[in-house]
Amino acid sequence: MHNDFRAIVIKVAVFVSGRGSNLQAVLNSQKLKKLIVVDPVISDKKDCKAFQIASENSIEFFSLGDAEGFISYSSLADFLKSRDVDLIVLAGFLKLIPNPVIREFKNRIINIHPALLPAFGGKGMYGMNVHKAVLNSSAKVSGATVHFVDDTYDTGKIIAQRKVDISDLDSAEAIAERVLKIEHELLPDVIEKFASNKIIFNNNKVEVLN
Ligand code: GRF
Repeated sequence: MHNDFRAIVIKVAVFVSGRGSNLQAVLNSQKLKKLIVVDPVISDKKDCKAFQIASENSIEFFSLGDAEGFISYSSLADFLKSRDVDLIVLAGFLKLIPNPVIREFKNRIINIHPALLPAFGGKGMYGMNVHKAVLNSSAKVSGATVHFVDDTYDTGKIIAQRKVDISDLDSAEAIAERVLKIEHELLPDVIEKFASNKIIFNNNKVEVLN
């Protein structure tokens, strides 16, 4: 049967800084199994819990830095190219991506942010800082955003968002927990769309096809 959106297996590098629950959600996703391979996992940290997840799944993992055995930020673009990476997924990665990588992987780097951008984004808006700011604002909804990455924090074009009612919650921790559940659904969904060529630009606007 002819299918205009025939998918091929793409190689996804996942960047992490900590726990790795979004990495785990991607690895658990049944629908992604035929569409992607995660390879490699990269962190700005020497060690993090996400490395354990990579190791359990026999995925190579690397740290960024200048010390011996690390991948330097200046060689990162070449490193990713040499490994034929198709898509970079920032899943709880806290550093800015170097410019050569942004240029080389234009429209092939996505980030998951635990709020509804463009609100509650930007430098310093990560982890619990986001959820505390959401709580302090008295917002009744929060959610997750997946967006393309450019050279500043959280400003790239938005691909998809999912919202969640938080009007009954009164702690940043409770908001974080509810939003994280949404993240674990949204990120695999967007990666599936990317791998199936269903994320397109139309008049400078990102559209996701059904
Ligand atoms: C997630 O909330 C992600 O949106 C944010 O950092 C957190 C990372 O969680 N940028 P994990 O490492 O995927 O568990």
